[in-house]
Amino acid sequence: MQIKTIRDIEVTGKRVLVRVDFNTPIENGKVGDATRIAEALPTIRYLIQKKAKVILLSHFGRPKGKVVEEFRVAPVAAKLSEMLDTKIHTASDCVGEEAESVVSKLKEGEVALLENTRFHSEEEANDAVFAKKLSSLGDVFVAEAFGAAHRAHASTVGIAQYLPTVAGLLMEREVKELNQVFHNPTKPLVLILGGAKIDSKIGVLRKFSEMADTILLGGGIANTFLAAQGFEIGESLYEEDKVELAMDILMEAAARGCEIVLPKDVICADAIAAISDKTSTVDIRAEALPFNLKILDIGKESQQQYAEIIYSARMVIWNGPVGLFEFKPFEKGTKAIAEACAKTKATTILGGGDTLEALKRFKISPEEFTHVSTGGGAMLEFLEGKKLPGVEILGKI
Ligand code: 3PG
Repeated sequence: MQIKTIRDIEVTGKRVLVRVDFNTPIENGKVGDATRIAEALPTIRYLIQKKAKVILLSHFGRPKGKVVEEFRVAPVAAKLSEMLDTKIHTASDCVGEEAESVVSKLKEGEVALLENTRFHSEEEANDAVFAKKLSSLGDVFVAEAFGAAHRAHASTVGIAQYLPTVAGLLMEREVKELNQVFHNPTKPLVLILGGAKIDSKIGVLRKFSEMADTILLGGGIANTFLAAQGFEIGESLYEEDKVELAMDILMEAAARGCEIVLPKDVICADAIAAISDKTSTVDIRAEALPFNLKILDIGKESQQQYAEIIYSARMVIWNGPVGLFEFKPFEKGTKAIAEACAKTKATTILGGGDTLEALKRFKISPEEFTHVSTGGGAMLEFLEGKKLPGVEILGKI
């Protein structure tokens, strides 16, 4: 599927309304991992070079339809200004007189970032009047927020009702790379899933139990699967109400010839220990876990086994850390996977906010992988075969 992009239309002198996903982590009042901003720069630079008037819209956090000071986009505007080395015009709202005035004063090649779209409840309700108001700020709409493409909101899909709509360069790349995985995967295909909860990952687990040769599990998800296999998991994080579902998935996968691999050994801490960089740990067989421990990473043998499986694959998809990598004693599992994915010659597709944070912590450049997706939920929904509303609005060539 080829989609229409900014390269296919005339943008010079036009007010180009670009929906980006600048929902980035914040550390001490500043943008932490700036991958999402960096990935949108080629589109913004292209538009600047073509002398368009660039008007950026984004959500930021979950302020639930109200103005919440901590969710103002100011830190993002500061980071963007630093990265582009140019002034970023701002407004204290994304619609209304001030926003209109900022846009009307914008010169060709200049950039404005309007305030958080989620300060209005109409955004998430995909309210048509609100979408129309937003659309009145532009002549053309560029959908660039792949990370929010699974949300049918006014600024991700509503505006497309009122303006000619094309994809930005990041959106184009995300759709192309993930389509390749979904429609044309190379085998052996390995999926690595980590993170705390199964909920957002059930669909992808089911889909990949049809498509993949192997699924490697870690994190809270693996604990729920260990419980489903009847293992003691002590005080580890898991989802009691998902144990039965995990059993079903294990059976489905086995029937389809897909192997779901759980950690054979795990790194644990005492259930009541405070977690820090100095917490004492033990590496223990998963089937022999005492009730007073909690699992916080995959063990040494599993790290080696997971890495070997990654090296034997031709395509690897990874979403979610397999341990509490933010703390030194529990970072080795996620690090081993990140390093294997970086070194393998296989096609590697990664995604999810925590996965990107882990790469940053381990100082592994996104360049080491075939594609690092800016989508967390969006990537998972795409790979489970769902139609993403923010992609469906794009015109095809
Ligand atoms: C994300 O961070 O996954 C996207 O920006 C979407 O955010 P949301 O889950 O709050 O809709």
